[in-house]
Amino acid sequence: MPMKTLVQFINEKQSEYPSATGDLTRLLNDIGIAAKIVNREIRRAGLADINGYFGTTNIQGEDQKKLDVFANDQFINALKHGGQCAALASEENEDMIIFGNKYSMQGKYVVAFDPIDGSSNIEVNVPIGTIFAIYKRISSVGASGSLEDLLQSGNHLVAAGYVMYGSSTMLVYTTGNGVNGFTYDATVGLFFLSHPNMKIPENGTIYSINEANYRYFPEGVKRYIKYCQEDDKATNRPYSTRYIGSLVADVHRNLIRGGIFIYPGTLKNPNGKLRLLYELAPMAFIVEQAGGKASDGFRRIMDLEPYDLHQRAPVFIGSKEMVIKAEEFMQEFSPDFVEKM
Ligand code: AHG
Ligand code: MN
Ligand code: MN
Repeated sequence: MPMKTLVQFINEKQSEYPSATGDLTRLLNDIGIAAKIVNREIRRAGLADINGYFGTTNIQGEDQKKLDVFANDQFINALKHGGQCAALASEENEDMIIFGNKYSMQGKYVVAFDPIDGSSNIEVNVPIGTIFAIYKRISSVGASGSLEDLLQSGNHLVAAGYVMYGSSTMLVYTTGNGVNGFTYDATVGLFFLSHPNMKIPENGTIYSINEANYRYFPEGVKRYIKYCQEDDKATNRPYSTRYIGSLVADVHRNLIRGGIFIYPGTLKNPNGKLRLLYELAPMAFIVEQAGGKASDGFRRIMDLEPYDLHQRAPVFIGSKEMVIKAEEFMQEFSPDFVEKM
């Protein structure tokens, strides 16, 4: 059976909406091209001089790896010259980037992205990813993009996706009508539809959390971890722990197998580590579209209103039943934690 390419699939989806202008289609295609270039560089990383540090730190004080900088530049360039995107926010740039050229000012969209997710895994050859979130701008088309264009809650997402550079490279995305996954065939340079209409199992047996921080966790998370470890045949407990340390790879695995990924707030960092705009909101959109759930323990991630480009939030994301259970523990044992966030 002939396989459908990413570009064919996107075009086909566009034709289902007679009012669509093709702008989102072009934007998604540009992201696909940047992903291929970044993929090529990652595949050569062990040979080329691309492993290691760039010698700078980003806004969050994290060391920037050469690949962080390379991938950031590739996505910025693709979006700058594509003409669909008026402004963007990246993990690697403190301020938003406004494209001043006339062409981009006509763009209807803005994009927030994490160019390389899981940077600490680069030199050990463990899966890393890229995450992107696409919003329709609020400012008028033709004018410069503005901060309010990017500070929109997940409910306003037009599309979101991730690329996973794993044992194969995959691009998974949603436009709010289900989730589809594409696998890259490097011999022909194309993404092919390999995972149509992805659905996350309602329940699972995997929990993913960096347990080294246990003593700092809220009581609700501590109790939920103990619950996962209890022996109960009827609910397949004890569960298994799997923690890669790349959000994309951990969520991707749980999307296919079922499971929960948690990066909680702690007493020291009540908002946890992961960033709302370019990590959590897009992953929440994908997981919800696949039938799962994403929460900060009390509220839907998609409902959180951003006030800062690099704002963080706690996250409980994955199989619906598992996230509901974890929320019950938070609400019972850490009800006042929400006020610290
Ligand atoms: P990034 O590489 O974009 O900074 O993101 C790293 C994130 C995420 O991918 C992962 O889930 C988490 O950091 C791991 O954090 P810990 O090392 O604290 O567990
Ligand atoms: Mn990240
Ligand atoms: Mn990153």
